[in-house]
Parts: sequence; C-alpha cells; structure tokens
Amino acid sequence: MGIYPPKEFIQQANVRDPAIYSRASENWVEFWEDFARELEWFEPWEKFLDDSKAPYFRFFVGGKINACYNCVDRHADMRNKAALIWEGENGETRTLTYFQLYREVNAFSAALRELGVEKGSRVAIYMPNIPEAVVAMLACARIGATHVFIFEGFSARSAGFRLKDSRSEFLITADGYYRRGEVTNLKEKADQAIEQYGGIKSVVVVRRAGIDVEMVDGRDHWYHEITKKGYTEPEILDSNHPLFIMYTSGSTAEPKGVVHSTGGYLVHVYATSKLVLDLKPNDIIWTTASLGWITGHSYGVYGPLSVGATVLMYEGAPDYPDKCRTFEIIEKYGVSVFYTVPTLARMILTCKTDSYDLSTIRLIGTVGEPIEPETWTWLYREVGRERAPVVNTWWQTETGGHVISQLPALTPMKPASVGKALPGFEVAILDDGGKPVKPFEIGNLVIKRPFPGLMLEISGDPKSYVKFYWSKYGKRVYFTGDSAYMDEEGHIWIVGRVDDVLNISGHRVSLIEIEQVAMGVKEVREVSAIGIPDRVKGSVIALFVVSEEASEEVGRKITEKIERDIGKIAKPGLIVFVPELPKSSGKVVKRAIYDAVVGKKKPAFLSNPEVAEMLMKIKPSER
Ligand code: WT7
Repeated sequence: MGIYPPKEFIQQANVRDPAIYSRASENWVEFWEDFARELEWFEPWEKFLDDSKAPYFRFFVGGKINACYNCVDRHADMRNKAALIWEGENGETRTLTYFQLYREVNAFSAALRELGVEKGSRVAIYMPNIPEAVVAMLACARIGATHVFIFEGFSARSAGFRLKDSRSEFLITADGYYRRGEVTNLKEKADQAIEQYGGIKSVVVVRRAGIDVEMVDGRDHWYHEITKKGYTEPEILDSNHPLFIMYTSGSTAEPKGVVHSTGGYLVHVYATSKLVLDLKPNDIIWTTASLGWITGHSYGVYGPLSVGATVLMYEGAPDYPDKCRTFEIIEKYGVSVFYTVPTLARMILTCKTDSYDLSTIRLIGTVGEPIEPETWTWLYREVGRERAPVVNTWWQTETGGHVISQLPALTPMKPASVGKALPGFEVAILDDGGKPVKPFEIGNLVIKRPFPGLMLEISGDPKSYVKFYWSKYGKRVYFTGDSAYMDEEGHIWIVGRVDDVLNISGHRVSLIEIEQVAMGVKEVREVSAIGIPDRVKGSVIALFVVSEEASEEVGRKITEKIERDIGKIAKPGLIVFVPELPKSSGKVVKRAIYDAVVGKKKPAFLSNPEVAEMLMKIKPSER
C-alpha cells in the first residue's frame, strides 16, 4: 500500500537498491564506515564504536577530522560554483562560491584567533539567517571552537541563559535583522544578554541592517574591520571533539544544551543528506528552518555543504511581503530540494501553485511536527506535481540527523506516516513495561542501537542526560519522548510528545518554562499550560490561569512577559481565567483540562462544577 515513488525520480536517485536495508542490518558497521570513508580524515579511526561507557557512546574513536575542511576546503577549487545563495527579506541578494566561502571562512578564522578564540573555546552566535552566520559557524569549526547558536528571535533573557549555561567566552552577533518589514535591534538584545552573565570577553558585530548601535570600546568589534585576508590552517580534531551545542526544550523549565560531535555528526548528516534528501552536487536545497535550530545546522549547512551542493538561504518571514513569496523564491532560484515544516505548508496552502514554475523541484521533505494527510497531499500534488517524492523525516535535536523516514526512491509513501527506520537504525515502539506493542497500538518510540549523530552529552548536566534518555528502558535503549504506532506493514505514525514539551510550528517549547514565566506576573496565583490543536500551527499554547484579578489587563501582562522572557514563539494563543484547576494529589491534571476543552469530556478532579462547564464551553478553534 501507499503511493509509489515517481519513476523519473527513481531513475536518478542516489539509492535505488532495496538491498540497502538488509545489508545495513547484516553489517551496520560497514554501512556507516562506507559513508565515513567518503569524507576526508586526517587520520583514520581505530574503532568504529566504543560503547564501554554506555550511555556515552563514542564513534570513530581515534579518527582525526575537521568539519569545515570537509564542507569547504574539499570543494574550494570549484571557483565557479555557488556554495551559498542568499536572499534578504528586503530583496537584497548575495552569492558566495565555494572558493569565496573558503576565503571568507579562512579570513574570519584568523580574526577569531586574533581575538583569542582557541581550540575548545565556546563561541555563541546570536544571528539571523545571513551568510556571515554560516561563515561564523564554519570558522569556529575550522579552529576547533564549539559554536553555540542562539536563534535571533529569542529574548535577551533566553540568550543570557544560553551564554551562561554554555560558559561561552565570545559572542558573534549582528546590528539588526529584518522580519516582516521591521528591523529589530539585535545588538541591544545581545548587550542585555551579556549583562546577565559577564563571561563574554569579546563581541563581533556584523553590519546587516545598517542601524546605529552602541559599541563597547575594547570589547566590541565590527566584523568587516577585523576580517582581513589570510589562510588559517584547520585544526586536526578528534572525532569526538564537540562541534557545537544546540539548546532545546525539555521537560524541565530550563533548556538543555545538546552537545554534538565532529566526526560522527558529520558522517550522519552527510549520509542522510544523500540517502533521504537525495542530495547531489548539482542540487539547490532550500531548508526553510532558521540556522538557530538543529534543522538549519544539519540540513542547511553541514549536510548539504559536505555533499558539495548549493544552499539557498533566506533571511525573513517566508510569507512576507507576499503570502506566496516561498514560491517566488523557489521559481527564481530553481530550488530542487525543498525541505520545510508542515506549518509553513499550511500557511501557504491557498497560494495558486500553477502561477509559478516549480518544475525544478524534485524532492520535498517535511520535518518537525506531524503532517496531516491533506497538507501532505497538497505538497505532493500541487507543489511537486507528483514528480517529486515527499519524505516525512522524523528526528530530534538530540539525534543530530534523520532517524526515521521514507527512502525517496524505495519506500511507498503513506500520507502523514514517517515511514520506517532508516537503514542502519533500529527503532521500536514499546509499552511502559518494555514490551513491543502490537500494530496500531500506541507506545513509546525508542531507538535500540546508537548511531553516529547521537549527541555526546547534555552540556554540564550528566544527570539529565541519563535521566531523560537512558533511564526508562536502561542504558542502551534511547527514549525519544515521543509516542507512536506502527501499521501492519511496519510504517510508523507519530502521535506526539509524552512529556511537557510542545511542538509549535515545528519548534520545541517547554510548557513548564512557560508556566514558570507566567507565575512571575504577580497577579497570577496558579497556572497550567497545555497544547491544543491548531489548524495552521499544529498546536497553540493555552494558559489556564487562577487569579484574583482575572482581567484582560492581566492577560496582556502574561503575554508580554512570556514574549519578553522567552520569545515570540512561546506566545500563548489562548488565556482562560478559571476559579480552579483540576487536581489530584496536589498536582494539576492536564489531561482533564485537555479532554474538557478539546474532547468536550466532563473533567473530574474539580470541586466546583461550574469550572467543568466553563472548560467544556471553550471553542479552541474560534479565536
Ligand atoms: C521533536 C523534536 C528534527 C528537527 C526539528 C525538530 C517532533 C520531529 C517529526 C515528524 C512528527 C516530528 C517530535 C520530536 N518531530 N519530526 N516528521 N513528524 N513529529 O527538532 O526541536 O528537537 O523536536 O519534533 O516530537 O521529538 P526538535
């Protein structure tokens, strides 16, 4: 069952032989090592996997490698080929060939070294999607500094937390950036973030928006002033040297710093770029995610550049100023691989796709949140014209790269399913006791074998690493935090998170963090945050607030505080004042709220029957 991949696609695909699955399961070491050998190593690895300290798994032990070298130097003689094509929201464009990228990265690496950045230093990058952000990532990788990218939409407080938690010593930022036609002063936010922490020695500022910003003498430097010419020898790094830290929300209030390796991570994103996204050197891939999310790192930079493809990068809102700008961009640059989130697809679903020439698209990928059959079918029929397979890729910040997906030339596509575990991976769906569930029964999604892109650790927090991922089923079974089921043919369907994490527009937010911030508003006595389904965003945050002063004014205060402390992505879609929250042994029973609001089921655990009526009357879709 399912839709068969289009013939024209199969003929040209990187992977066409179904035996890849059996080969990988018979010899998974060889499967990964074959991909690893396609990259350039300064010294080969001695051991593919060291699992003696499980759940700390180390891949390609003894190998020496540099991610920047593999993404840039290896392709630098392509002087006539674009590595990066960039379009700003204001219409500006820039192109960097592989050779120009090589030059720029070398020059900026030298500038960073001069500022005192060393192998092992941690360098925060608080930047919008502009070419210098990619240059900054690669320059850090070149000299062995670990980059810590902070999404530009995060508030100063959220950025400050990340600077401090990662113990970053340097910060690269921009004066400002464009979003929906407005310029945000990013430097000011950066300064406020630095103030909260005090460990930042030097700041580099890229001029993007051309606005006036304050520069602190001796601490702050303009990118264009310190970046001269020069060659910088790439550091010869251990395979398990930390390439970057990416913060993500977990089931506690504080975000976790997920640390990724150099060698294993690069092998994983390189291999999956070829297997799943079918990338080839002559592709132009547009990964719509911001660089500040793992998707931007893995399939907007390291994966495509390691393959030698061209990356298309866009700065602002994909539906601004025209709702259908996404299609203008695809047409203008001849995008061949379009990798996006279902939320964006739902936003532009009403665009007339036949007004654009989208014939260059040969593969579409989605990621980050469940996609419903209608949106999937629209992508397949109206955007890809049934010529391009649509792969639904499942993975997480913690896994570094794809884990479950269709192989585009091999797996029949079932709209909304994520397909099967990729070759080389072993996943299962278990009940709470650890037994595999039957087809169509919902259980916990786990990964039963480590893989090269698996995070090294949680920065500075070994307890959480073991507790969240390796406790439920022991030290060798990775607990994903997602629930899922399998159909009779083994195709997997993701149901959602089992913890207090919510997916909004493909971004992870912590409900606990939102509750804590809301509690900071003095009129709030109690608050519970849950996710409720939304037609466009997948989910929105609904806050149920107990307050003596239930008023619009208090609601506004809560929203403002959440936007200020976390960022716009965590903004509640709905705030409801209630006299009481359903509780059992002192804890709020979120399930009862959800069932009342969404399922219209009478909630238990309430002393006041009027509250039950109130919750059931809420119409989540009519906001
Ligand atoms: C969570 C991870 C992976 C990069 C972007 C998000 C959800 C991810 C899918 C998918 C349904 C998905 C899961 C997962 N998720 N991909 N194809 N279908 N849900 O990375 O922020 O670390 O979030 O996103 O719930 O646990 P992330």
